[in-house]
Amino acid sequence: GAPVQADISKLEPGQRMTVEWRGRPIWIINRTPEMIERTEALGADSLADPESEVPQQPAYIQGGLRSIRPEIGVLIGICTHLGCSPLYRPEPDAEGVGVSNWPGGFFCPCHGSRFDLAGRVFSNVPAPTNLEVPPYRFEGDDIIVVG
Ligand code: FES
Repeated sequence: GAPVQADISKLEPGQRMTVEWRGRPIWIINRTPEMIERTEALGADSLADPESEVPQQPAYIQGGLRSIRPEIGVLIGICTHLGCSPLYRPEPDAEGVGVSNWPGGFFCPCHGSRFDLAGRVFSNVPAPTNLEVPPYRFEGDDIIVVG
C-alpha cells in the first residue's frame, strides 16, 4: 500500500488521532510531559516485552518511548492478542482497566490486555508482545509519513 500522510499540527497535548494505513488504524498520540514521565517510570518487571525490537518496530526506533520524538507516539492500533482495537485510556485514574496503579495507556476490552502510552504490553495479560510501531518519518514539524 501507499504511504499515508498525517498532519499533526492540530493534535493537542494528551490527544490521540487515527489515520488508516494498509487497512489498519494508525494511532498518533501527542504525549504530555506527565504522560512521558509516567511511561518512563515503568520498570521492566511491569512489562511482558520490555526488549522491544524488529519486527514489533523498525530498527531505527530505540528506547522505552518507542518513537522518533519523545512526545509523539505512532502505533498500529491492533491488539497483539487476537486483533481487537484497544481503547485509549490515557488518564492515571481511568475506570475499567482493572488495576488501581494505571499509568495511562490502552486497554483491550476483548480479553483485558493492557498497554502503556508507548504501546508496551504489561505483564499478566493475554497479549504476548507490544503493539507494533509502523515505519514512519517526519516531513518538517507537522507532517508524519507512515509507510
Ligand atoms: Fe486484545 Fe484479546 S484481542 S486482549
